[in-house]
Amino acid sequence: MSPSTAQEHRPHGTRLHSAHPTGSDALRAVDADVPGAVRGMLAELLARRLTAAEAVDPLFARDLAARVARFTEDGGKFSRSRLVWWGMRACGGDQSVLRATLRIGAALELIQTCALVHDDVMDDAPVRRGRPSLHAEIADRYAGETSAPRAARLGHASAILAGDLALAWADDVVADTELSRATTREVRDLWRAMRMEMVAGQYLDVHGEATSARSLSRAIRAACLKSALYSVERPLALGAALAGATPTTTRALCSAGRCVGIAFQLRDDLLDVYGDPRDTGKPPGGDIRSGKPTYLTAVAQARAETAGDRHALAVLRDTLGRADLSDAELAAVREVFEATGARATVEAKIDRLVAQGLRHLDGALLAPHAGNRLRALLRSAAGTPPPETPDAAPDDVVPVSLSLTTTDEGARR
Ligand code: IPE
Ligand code: MG
Ligand code: MG
Ligand code: MG
Repeated sequence: MSPSTAQEHRPHGTRLHSAHPTGSDALRAVDADVPGAVRGMLAELLARRLTAAEAVDPLFARDLAARVARFTEDGGKFSRSRLVWWGMRACGGDQSVLRATLRIGAALELIQTCALVHDDVMDDAPVRRGRPSLHAEIADRYAGETSAPRAARLGHASAILAGDLALAWADDVVADTELSRATTREVRDLWRAMRMEMVAGQYLDVHGEATSARSLSRAIRAACLKSALYSVERPLALGAALAGATPTTTRALCSAGRCVGIAFQLRDDLLDVYGDPRDTGKPPGGDIRSGKPTYLTAVAQARAETAGDRHALAVLRDTLGRADLSDAELAAVREVFEATGARATVEAKIDRLVAQGLRHLDGALLAPHAGNRLRALLRSAAGTPPPETPDAAPDDVVPVSLSLTTTDEGARR
């Protein structure tokens, strides 16, 4: 890719430095469009890396580096970078950590690229965000130049390399972020922990698939590692660390993130079965076809066993893990999830977890406006409708309530 192609990434993002806003103006500019600001930061970070990739090798730059950049900048919800931003703002962080927060946000989006590109290989998922997944796209790109098995193999190998590249870039961005010595240490510790937790969660997931390990506790543990910690709690903890939050406030954010993060994965599991592909960007039933040990499946299995429901048990046995499942068979699984009460149980658990998570925030000293934005973001991450009260509080730091609640999920494991 030529340097001019690399520059194509620039116009997507908010141009943070074009008008040189200072102080609270700069903060408010980001508040108004967090994904835009993160895209702007990604554009800045990626342009340099794409130029370097081009100098290393043009084919590598075009096939892999450019795809990593495009995947990261386009299409995602930027939920992790929004969480780090609003976590930082809710904890009263100021413009001194603005750039660092956007850099950590950009790094979170890059590690998410790694996670998703690798996830789609592991889950054998051909579609992501409504487009061919990276391995499928590369296989398709080379389908005319080699045999189908070789093209598929190239697709898988490319996705492994692209994910590695995204992870390396993410790590570099974190390592090169300038912060005070204490904050640097805290951010690095959180980053290291988060990276390993995500890998551990993904391993529990694929191991459970292969061994049909479908216990409720195992499903929650995988959801906790691969989503609650990686997708919500750690991004919030990073935001709190960047703001220099007190241990009490940090704990409140982490507990909220743990509850909502589990809810986020339970929602993802429901959407896999019941979601509209136009919204989810992936075909329905992927988890059923791959036999993923989700909490939804674990509840259905446990309830069918308790009730001695032979029909439900037979449907689950005959469908979970069957890659060639028909639409009618998928419909039968949906009916089993309804009839056993598994769907309703998961919905109710999501509601309970979100309410519990938000109660943790009630006990924290948060900047009211940013705190409300954070609440709204957490609700939307879990697919929970917004409350009726408007989000228009002033921006002062005041105590909302000092009582801390506990969670039945064991927030600190
Ligand atoms: C992926 O979990 C979690 C990570 C990428 C860490 P899933 O496999 O459930 O995600 P989707 O459903 O493919 O998006
Ligand atoms: Mg997947
Ligand atoms: Mg997966
Ligand atoms: Mg999923």
